[in-house]
Amino acid sequence: MINGARFYIFVSILLFSTFSSYANSAGKVNPQVSQAAVAIPDKYAAKVAEDILLAGGNAVDAAIATGFALAVTYIDAGNIGGGGFMLIYIDGKALFLDYRETAPLTAHRDMYLNDEKAVVQNLSLIGAKAPGVPGTVAGFWEAHQRFGKLSWSKLIEPAIKLAEEGFIPANILVDNIQDHYQRFDGLTNFKTYFGSVEHGKNFKQPELAETLKRIAKNGRKEFYHGETAKLLVKQMQKSGGIISAQDLAQYKAVWREPLKANWRDYQILSSPPPSSGGFGVIQLLKMKDYLSKEFEGVTHNSEQYVHLVAEMEKRVFADRAEYLGDPAFVDIDMTHLISDEYIKRRAMEVKPNEISRLESVNPGLQSPNTTHYSIVDADGNAVSNTYTINWAYGSGVVVEGAGFLLNNEMDDFSVKPGVANIFGVVGNTANEIQPGKRMLSSMSPTILLQDNKAVMVIGTPGGSTIFTSVFQAIVNIIDFKMTPLQAASASRFHHQLLPPDLITQSPSLPLPDSTIEALTKRGYRVEPHSWEFGDIQVIWKDGEQLIPASDSRDRGVSKVIDIK
Ligand code: DON
Repeated sequence: MINGARFYIFVSILLFSTFSSYANSAGKVNPQVSQAAVAIPDKYAAKVAEDILLAGGNAVDAAIATGFALAVTYIDAGNIGGGGFMLIYIDGKALFLDYRETAPLTAHRDMYLNDEKAVVQNLSLIGAKAPGVPGTVAGFWEAHQRFGKLSWSKLIEPAIKLAEEGFIPANILVDNIQDHYQRFDGLTNFKTYFGSVEHGKNFKQPELAETLKRIAKNGRKEFYHGETAKLLVKQMQKSGGIISAQDLAQYKAVWREPLKANWRDYQILSSPPPSSGGFGVIQLLKMKDYLSKEFEGVTHNSEQYVHLVAEMEKRVFADRAEYLGDPAFVDIDMTHLISDEYIKRRAMEVKPNEISRLESVNPGLQSPNTTHYSIVDADGNAVSNTYTINWAYGSGVVVEGAGFLLNNEMDDFSVKPGVANIFGVVGNTANEIQPGKRMLSSMSPTILLQDNKAVMVIGTPGGSTIFTSVFQAIVNIIDFKMTPLQAASASRFHHQLLPPDLITQSPSLPLPDSTIEALTKRGYRVEPHSWEFGDIQVIWKDGEQLIPASDSRDRGVSKVIDIK
């Protein structure tokens, strides 16, 4: 996550200049070599991914090694103390790995309310009561058991080296960490661990290095039953948290069917519940086509474009708040929710020239610490992985002796019906807290297939803005014919039903003044989003050429790799 008007000029130059990234510097496809590609949010992890692919690893190997490396170098979101989703397309088969955190077994619906039934500020966000049971190590282990070609320890080796020998944190990361000291002051041990992060100074994480070494040696059981589990539970007891040894012992990553839908001549693969992301991407893409007459001649980010998309997004968020949650706890009629008939009906409710009033948008059947990376290997296998510790350095609690941050994913539950979470989204009983339940997510690792080949691998962080950003980037490439770099770096906007009629936009790259003026006249309020949402990492296959791109507002590295 980044803040930064300082990127404005840079982004503008990139947007309007010819695309000439590292990807293109690979030039024409050489028949002697096969190409792989990565789009990764940090340069150290991108190098790790490249090395693993060159060493004969497949996309899954590279994704696991990248995930562990980011847990060291991308302190803002890379993690072993959080969870996520990995969408895999391998040997022509699509699989979805859910390693989302779960509510601890002693969690209960009202755990963040006081005696007056009011939400206690920050309790689900800061400190030891905020984390869900972490899933990342279990997820990576599962993926490796099933698809890994290289050894487990080889995939963790680069992360160990980075933690042990240190790395130079990106300036953007140093500024961001320092900005957070005050927020955690007196509440967590965040500054004890990250207080020495400085510009240009090597940063080592010796406890994390030891933890990674134990995980490399003992595998999954180290995190859920071993020394690391003991340290985590000890930390909980010391700082008033509720994750127990039993919670860790019972944690399971789950293989699920990806959400699938046909759209034009593509097959969309994306995240099923407990994410709302795939549902959001599919509804938005299809609704746009049912409104194709309305979109005819409408230019990118014009007043009418923003209005039509906001009207579609309103409806998606109304459904999200009412119907979606962990499928192990709530019945979700997903077949209906992504059926053509239903989406067409929702599209027809969109008012092309008028803002639908809040009261009229009902469910239809009646930011920031996440990161995403995309990888395609030389055999065309693809991994789209989004993982998270949720908001701003998670709970701020570091497991002492183990050196990693714990998430604050419990805030993704609806802590009280109708009360907005940190991303401003509300929920109802479908997403209330229950022991062992997975909290509703918006993460949307997505792959588009064409003739059973992965032609786009895409995802982003951004909380509730994730699937609206993924939708806009797909449309930017396919409908507005932007290069992947232009598409990932373009200005984005977002509407999520509540607050009513509020459109938020990329702070560093606002919509044109004339668009804002026209939207304001229509009755919208247009404001900068409270943080620079989105860090799209996309790989697009144009004919035989892989074109990866990273959102130029942040520090991602995208690259084509020749595999001999
Ligand atoms: O699962 C979710 O939807 C959120 N926990 C994601 C958080 C996020 O993207 C924060 N980063 N911007």
